[in-house]
Amino acid sequence: MEFRKFDYKSFEDFQKEAESIGLSLPFSKNLEVFAKKVDINGFTLQNSIAVNPMEGTDGKLDGSPDELTIRRYERFARGGAALVWFEAVSVVPEGRTSPRQLWINKNNVSAYQEICENIMENAQSESGFTPLLIMQLTHSGRFSKPEGKAAPIIAAHNPYLDPRMNIDESYPVISDDELEQLEDKFVEAAILAKQAGFHGVDVKCCHRYLNSELVSAFTRKGKYGETYEGRTRFLMNIVRKIKDRLGSDFIVTSRLNVYDGIPYPYGFGVDKDDYKKPDFTEPIRLVKELYETGVHLINLTMGTPYYNPHVNRPADAAEYVPPEHQVEGINRLVTGIGEIQKAVPDIAVVGTGYSWPREFAAYLGAGVLEQGLATIIGFGRQAFAYPDFPKDILSGKGLDRKKCCIACGKCTEIMRAGGTAGCPVRDAKVYAPIYKQYCMK
Ligand SMILES: Cc1cc2nc3c(=O)[nH]c(=O)nc-3n(C[C@H](O)[C@H](O)[C@H](O)COP(=O)(O)O)c2cc1C
Ligand code: SF4
Repeated sequence: MEFRKFDYKSFEDFQKEAESIGLSLPFSKNLEVFAKKVDINGFTLQNSIAVNPMEGTDGKLDGSPDELTIRRYERFARGGAALVWFEAVSVVPEGRTSPRQLWINKNNVSAYQEICENIMENAQSESGFTPLLIMQLTHSGRFSKPEGKAAPIIAAHNPYLDPRMNIDESYPVISDDELEQLEDKFVEAAILAKQAGFHGVDVKCCHRYLNSELVSAFTRKGKYGETYEGRTRFLMNIVRKIKDRLGSDFIVTSRLNVYDGIPYPYGFGVDKDDYKKPDFTEPIRLVKELYETGVHLINLTMGTPYYNPHVNRPADAAEYVPPEHQVEGINRLVTGIGEIQKAVPDIAVVGTGYSWPREFAAYLGAGVLEQGLATIIGFGRQAFAYPDFPKDILSGKGLDRKKCCIACGKCTEIMRAGGTAGCPVRDAKVYAPIYKQYCMK
């Protein structure tokens, strides 16, 4: 099989191809729906567009944002999205994915305060409003590389992921005591995020980092494993502790994998007999419980970039040819996330999967909003490539293919090679030299 290249001449061609493989995606040309305001815990979002979290691995060694981090968020802020979901920020140094992943701590909180103020000022001067700003708090678990080489911290052994990282049966699993202490590290980081001016935090539970691995830890014994209550304990404890400590004005949310695409009993949200099919029974239960705990905003996603990137971020180029048409991946994300939104209609769901469809993503997002399959449409790579995309959607003009992300995977490639992630295609002046330096040696 070869990569399906995105060569649709018109929206109708694209729609026809989706129909020819039996998929009927929701589309609408009514871009006005993106102007709908959304209320979350007393904060009014001025439109229904989000920039999804994306690491730039461009922080300083002390964990604070550096020049390129500040530049990225300045561009996002000026783009006009009502929700800026700030990338993964580690709560402890050993949980960083690289020496340049952001890490918030008491010595660098003023740097976070500065970036926060910068985002607000840029957004206000360009769009006349300030965005909701959520910090994603993380521990990278098995993908930790704090000194640049793998130093996995695992919640459970996994026959699909362990061999890829040379982890054998003797490798230790993080203990219950360590997890309990780590819960408090998330709370400490949330306090610092609030101090810096963020409106809320995301207790990250996706893409198979530590917390995401825990919710699928069917084989782990003890209080953080096996049963549904055990596997979700870490997430629920942190959410409750932050709420108790910081009150109801401070938003607590989660970016949650609702389908891992890894066989049972090692994947979350998968059909027990056929891991290629989602089973949303547990994800829906969890989203309902989070809602009842006071989580009124949730960001849903799937897969992991380390094992099945075609599930997580459909692309036109990657290390392997995907086993499915990219439209099938988009359909899984859009309709799967839609099922959760329909099952828990009062929670504001941020959807994902809107970069690969280029300019047609605006029509896809509008269709999703009209059909109530998400409350907010989140864009990841598109924001690297085309930071002004929200303005073009909100003006009714729509997206310009010449500015769109082409799903080439180069931003991820730079990150994997140890460089600072951005778009060498559409932001070439800054990132093409970085791509050359790290990826074309
Ligand atoms: C370079 C890069 C860094 C990313 N970093 C994060 C991150 O920090 N947190 C997260 O939840 N997702 C992260 N993602 C995933 C994106 O948020 C998004 O889910 C994914 O790219 C699919 O959406 P898209 O098709 O709009 O790009 C990252 C993606 C890329 C390409
Ligand atoms: S490098 Fe640019 S065009 Fe390529 S996937 Fe990343 S954001 Fe999109």
